[in-house]
Amino acid sequence: MSATTLSTPADRAWRELHEAATAPYKKGGSFAWHFARGKLGRDPVFRGLLERGLIEAEHRRVVDIGCGQGLFASLLASMSAMQKQGRWPSTWFPTAPRPEYTGIELMPKDVARAQASIGHLEPKPTLLCADMCSAELPDCDLVVILDVLHYVDLQAQEGVLERVRDALRRGGNAKARLLLRVGDASSRRGFAISQWVDRTVTRIRGHKVSPTWGRPLSEWTALLQSLGFRVRSMPMSEGTPFANVLLVADLEQNEAA
Ligand SMILES: C[S@@+](CC[C@H](N)C(=O)[O-])C[C@H]1O[C@@H](n2cnc3c(N)ncnc32)[C@H](O)[C@@H]1O
Repeated sequence: MSATTLSTPADRAWRELHEAATAPYKKGGSFAWHFARGKLGRDPVFRGLLERGLIEAEHRRVVDIGCGQGLFASLLASMSAMQKQGRWPSTWFPTAPRPEYTGIELMPKDVARAQASIGHLEPKPTLLCADMCSAELPDCDLVVILDVLHYVDLQAQEGVLERVRDALRRGGNAKARLLLRVGDASSRRGFAISQWVDRTVTRIRGHKVSPTWGRPLSEWTALLQSLGFRVRSMPMSEGTPFANVLLVADLEQNEAA
């Protein structure tokens, strides 16, 4: 029996999304294209967010902090197009039509690759080359921070999260949400492996700082709760040797109002 006959409608839809979301990166050059295909195919977070219904129809204004080459923007746009064409699996939750995306990224080369690849999407993504520690955050419904906060020290992490809370609060959406993936420093082996990989990749990419600042999961949760979020956590490193955890942080209703 072939792999195609064994796959579910959701598997087939995911393959279609993978094709659609990575296709624009052909314009960004060979590195951009191969990186997008590998990342979207191998990192469990993207399909995980989708299948768990964590990106909701009410999440129209999205801010992606440490966005790299903006893969999440391309995924959101492809998701919206597939729903418009009526080819969305019944087991998947609907997401926003025409999401507005703002990506914030420190490295000019990543922003240039994002611009060359997905700069033409509709609605046009806003791609900012800026430091998340000082960049102005627009009012929004959903903030995504995947594997980024450990690049800055603990105090700076708190500053970023406070400003994220304020941007979500200003957005005024009752479903305001932060999706934050971090390493769990209490899981020593997996955390050490991801630190090593990140340091190596970071050096190759020419970063000046090394990503080293972690916290145990209990501390991440307590910090988010102290800022007014209701927090759930779920492992998000399936199929990899890392100790990554996804924190789903919903702004408390009275905080969003
Ligand atoms: C491990 S990558 C994750 C990229 C993307 N979030 C993803 O999941 O595909 C971390 C990204 O955060 C960016 N970054 C690190 N420090 C930053 C800062 N202070 N402000 C903005 N971006 C930063 C890095 O340049 C890099 O692109």
